[in-house]
Amino acid sequence: MTTSVENAPFLAALRGESPARRPIWIMRQAGRYLPEYLAVREKTSFIELCKTPELAAEVTLQPIRRFGFDASILFSDILVLLEPMGAAFKFAENGPQLDAPLRDKAQFDALRVCEPREHLGYVADTIRILKGELGETPLIGFAGAPFTLASYLVEGGGSKDYVQVKTLMFREPELFTGLMDKLADQVAAHLLMQVEAGVDAVQLFDSWAGVLSPHDYERFVLPGVKKIMAALASSGVPRILFAKGCAPYLELLSGSGADAIGLDWTTGLREALPRVGWRPVQGNLDPLLLFGPEEEIKRRAIDICRAGDEGPGHVFNLGHGILPKTPLSAVETLVDTVQNYRRGD
Ligand code: CP3
Repeated sequence: MTTSVENAPFLAALRGESPARRPIWIMRQAGRYLPEYLAVREKTSFIELCKTPELAAEVTLQPIRRFGFDASILFSDILVLLEPMGAAFKFAENGPQLDAPLRDKAQFDALRVCEPREHLGYVADTIRILKGELGETPLIGFAGAPFTLASYLVEGGGSKDYVQVKTLMFREPELFTGLMDKLADQVAAHLLMQVEAGVDAVQLFDSWAGVLSPHDYERFVLPGVKKIMAALASSGVPRILFAKGCAPYLELLSGSGADAIGLDWTTGLREALPRVGWRPVQGNLDPLLLFGPEEEIKRRAIDICRAGDEGPGHVFNLGHGILPKTPLSAVETLVDTVQNYRRGD
């Protein structure tokens, strides 16, 4: 079957073109706000779901079938690459939990960069199944960025204050730099495997980088992000960098080499465009607005589309992942509004 995935509005916008239809997908679009996802999860644990290509492919497709999003995102998790590196973890009731949080040099030395084809083959298998099913809908591959991965690795799970990871960063700057670099190599290898298996774009999630000062972001985090972007440069797929909470230093993100910048809702698209070097942007509706009135959702979505018209390419998204319990009707309203928006509306 020949498809024209290259002409998809999502990929056109990332190339800096202005497709007639504004593309939309949403972070965490496959997940617990969907009854069909919850039905699959009743029988299968989250990690088993990630590791079973047929099921992972099925839940990836659920939001595409229901809402007709303009891109699909591989169902997996940013944490899956920690296990083959030697950092075992489980998904507990209250989130991920590492068996042994990384706190010293011996643990750092024991952390290994694995061959993803050997240890994360289930991710590549999921991608191959999806490419056979998606037709003209592009598939996004993803990974967590080194700082966000390190925050789980060092804290041992989620965190409110990032005391452990920042303590390591400030007290053992060389070890921490080594950790960022090792994680960057692992992430690059993981993303390259995903490209080889067929993804059409990649997104790097730096969900927790916003807890750093601009100085520390530039010193400790940016080099690893740049290394990952450089490793993917010749792959030909567009690279999106989403770093939540980084509105105060968008200029730094723009220096990472990413083709497009994902924005959270704390900055306006118009203000962000010059600061990201007039690159294509993705974003940025507050996910909580989906709990608000329908008219307000429409109004704000149109505002964002109009601001997006001022740049070289705009992919509509939320400013962070969609929350469980989000009303399905709000998502329908949003998709309908964005896909029917036309320049000049
Ligand atoms: O976006 C998608 O639809 C694709 C799948 C995807 C998941 N996680 C599935 C998931 C993606 C892209 C992620 C990325 C991810 N995972 C991030 C970065 C993006 C972000 O939201 O900031 C982070 C920080 C994680 C780590 C993670 N995974 C946590 C902290 C948790 C538990 C808390 C929570 O939000 O659920 C997960 C579990 C997880 N990953 C679920 C899903 C659908 C829920 C698991 C369940 O069904 O119980």
